[in-house]
Amino acid sequence: MVHLRDTLRRVAVRVATEAAELVETTRRSAVRHVETKSSATDPVTAGDRAAERLVRERLAELRPGDPVLGEEEGAGGSGAADGAVTWVVDPIDGTVNYLYGLPWYSVSVAAQVDGVTVAGAVVEPASGRVWSAARGEGATLDDVPLRASTASELELTLVATGFAYRQERRAQQTGVIARLLTEIRDIRRTGSAALDLCMVGAGWVDAYFEVGLSPWDWAAGSLIAEEAGAVVHLPGTGELGNAVFASAPGVADPLRRLLVDAGLPGVR
Ligand code: IPD
Repeated sequence: MVHLRDTLRRVAVRVATEAAELVETTRRSAVRHVETKSSATDPVTAGDRAAERLVRERLAELRPGDPVLGEEEGAGGSGAADGAVTWVVDPIDGTVNYLYGLPWYSVSVAAQVDGVTVAGAVVEPASGRVWSAARGEGATLDDVPLRASTASELELTLVATGFAYRQERRAQQTGVIARLLTEIRDIRRTGSAALDLCMVGAGWVDAYFEVGLSPWDWAAGSLIAEEAGAVVHLPGTGELGNAVFASAPGVADPLRRLLVDAGLPGVR
């Protein structure tokens, strides 16, 4: 199994890196072709579509027969048999940043077995940074091992988060943010959930939470955070309802309690 995870990690890195190169070289022309998805503020560009097509083609060559779940084209193939590998792909996580020329967008490619991520890569087209992990094998940024922060005091905790595209969900989220801001060091919002999770793994922020994400947003990044020693909760796995949560171990309990107490949407 270790050998398989290493192989899947290498495939994820290779495919995500190729897609990241395509995303970057096509950025200027691609961003002119913008459509919207769940709401008027939820964009999809030709870059998203081209990158997902490339990922699907490369995975079909390197891992023939593995089903692929992608943000733009949904589930391909007939679904995975028990114990088989499924690929979960976000061709551009942080599409709004991509659209505006802000550098925080990423290609996220994860391999899951029975719904659990076993290997993944997050590649940043603008900087070329490569984040990756295999379950039980640790996480790295450009081959340097990652470690979550040693934060231990809630009031000194730097927390990343993100907001839904739907305005009614945002209205609920503002109450949680207002409460949090009075009890922690500060909030960061990069605009890429995959990168937020990687940043927890690197200790660049102490924690991250968000509600309403899709599997392609968190599949690779959550493993990278977990393998770097962060405490990770995925949707449907605990008291945080449908939230994704990743935290330095020293502040995970008080932060989780604060989020529940603040009425994080989807928790009660
Ligand atoms: C979005 C980003 C953002 C998060 C949103 C996601 P997309 O993904 O990850 O940070 O706050 O909830 O939908 O649309 O750029 O792939």
